Amino acid sequence: MDSDFTGKVALVTGGGSGIGEASAILLAARGAKVVVADWDGDAAERVVKAIGEAAMAYTVDVSSPTGCDAMVRATVERFGRLDVAVNNAGIGGPQALTGEYPLDGWAQVIAVNLSGVFYSMRAEIPAMLAGGGGAIVNMASILGSVGFGQAVAYVAAKHGVVGMTKTTAIEYAQQGIRVNSIGPGFIDTPLLAAADSEVIAGVSALHPLGRLGRAEEVAELVAFLASDRASNTTGSYLLTDGGYTAH
Ligand code: NAI
Repeated sequence: MDSDFTGKVALVTGGGSGIGEASAILLAARGAKVVVADWDGDAAERVVKAIGEAAMAYTVDVSSPTGCDAMVRATVERFGRLDVAVNNAGIGGPQALTGEYPLDGWAQVIAVNLSGVFYSMRAEIPAMLAGGGGAIVNMASILGSVGFGQAVAYVAAKHGVVGMTKTTAIEYAQQGIRVNSIGPGFIDTPLLAAADSEVIAGVSALHPLGRLGRAEEVAELVAFLASDRASNTTGSYLLTDGGYTAH
């Protein structure tokens, strides 16, 4: 029992950048065949090129239920099974006060960050059951447990991801599927590119470690939760947040 993924097949949504990219690379390095799924097909191809033959790129918009179904079908067609799913695709959305929050921004963030995780799990679970079980890791955020100004849609979606994770974990525990979520603090990825340097400095200071996290640090937790080492861990919401939520 270890975190060796040899013989296992993993699917990583949002695998073309940031945390998803680091997770796909780490899972592949530990022996998994990996499907790098992203709505940016070029980004997915770039990551697959870096990994090599053990990976396949797949273009998907996770806010489409039929798209998620087809993504899982393509995974099983190519690699024969599905053992690990990292539901990580996400967007930041607009920054605005709740009373002024744009309705189209709300709809888009909920569609990708909340519904996208649901549609992904809904498609992945039957494939995992067919293979005798599996492990799902949903990418929430520290904003799955605390609030943050001008981000009502993102915060609502991430709290929802934590709740869906717990519920699905309860439902499938007896059938060999573990479901966990991760709460990263602010991580240095392209997701934060829209924020100016003053905001980044302010946000960094909110973490007792005094810096943004790195995608590779989150990937380590992904790999742990996806592995047999986490055999007693399901329904959890584990933080890698530089201490952000400690105060
Ligand atoms: P990123 O922007 O570097 O990567 C996100 C990837 O998801 C991109 O490749 C993008 O094309 C893809 N994507 C976006 N919408 C998609 C859709 N509808 N269908 C398929 N692919 C889609 O962002 P990052 O930082 O790596 O974020 C990954 C996850 O981690 C997100 O769920 C995010 O909310 C979460 N997270 C990020 C934090 C941060 O500070 N960067 C902190 C906490 C959580």
